[in-house]
Amino acid sequence: MQRYALIHDVPVMQEEGQLFLLRLIREQKVRSILELGTAIAYTTLAMASQDPQIHIDTVERDPQMAALAEDYIRRSSHAAQITLYPMDIDDFVTEKKYDLILVDAAKAQYPVYFRRFQENLQEEGLFVFDDMVFHGMIERPEQPKNRSTRNLLRRIARFRREAASESGFTCEFYDKIGDGILIMRRRKKDES
Ligand SMILES: C[S@@+](CC[C@H](N)C(=O)[O-])C[C@H]1O[C@@H](n2cnc3c(N)ncnc32)[C@H](O)[C@@H]1O
Repeated sequence: MQRYALIHDVPVMQEEGQLFLLRLIREQKVRSILELGTAIAYTTLAMASQDPQIHIDTVERDPQMAALAEDYIRRSSHAAQITLYPMDIDDFVTEKKYDLILVDAAKAQYPVYFRRFQENLQEEGLFVFDDMVFHGMIERPEQPKNRSTRNLLRRIARFRREAASESGFTCEFYDKIGDGILIMRRRKKDES
């Protein structure tokens, strides 16, 4: 899968970031996961392999990616642990509460996903956002020549500031890991 992703330019989590995520899943004994942005299910299968009790709902809108993901999942030994939703995140509705929500789809939508899915996190549940330094460009958001990249960097920078001041969550930035990981832990209701 890693080879396929590399050859076909499929944007999957960087290895270091993925290893960090997998360790977090083991240490926190995470059992239910929502993944926004499946691609070919590379990280989905890695997460499922951490414990047979883990269940993952994962959402992918690109039909080609979703078909490949479905095939990889079906041929794996983790098919029973994974439900793939081949649809746009905008159309994905769930009442479920998850231990962890991995946000790895369109970066400009991170604030939207944060607001929309926070009620789907258990108390003390974790949001994990990938690509928070965006190939190291976040430190110089005015540098790229391309205007849409500059806009995206500004949006990521704004989301970083908003996340840091969210009262209902604790917030940890791991900028040196992979492409930058942000972990937001939902506070207990009675936690000050
Ligand atoms: C960075 S890749 C996901 C990589 C995957 N999490 C991994 O590490 O193996 C992002 C994926 O999100 C999907 N995506 C982007 N916007 C989406 C949306 N609104 N709804 C569903 N999927 C979306 C893209 O098609 C792409 O396959």
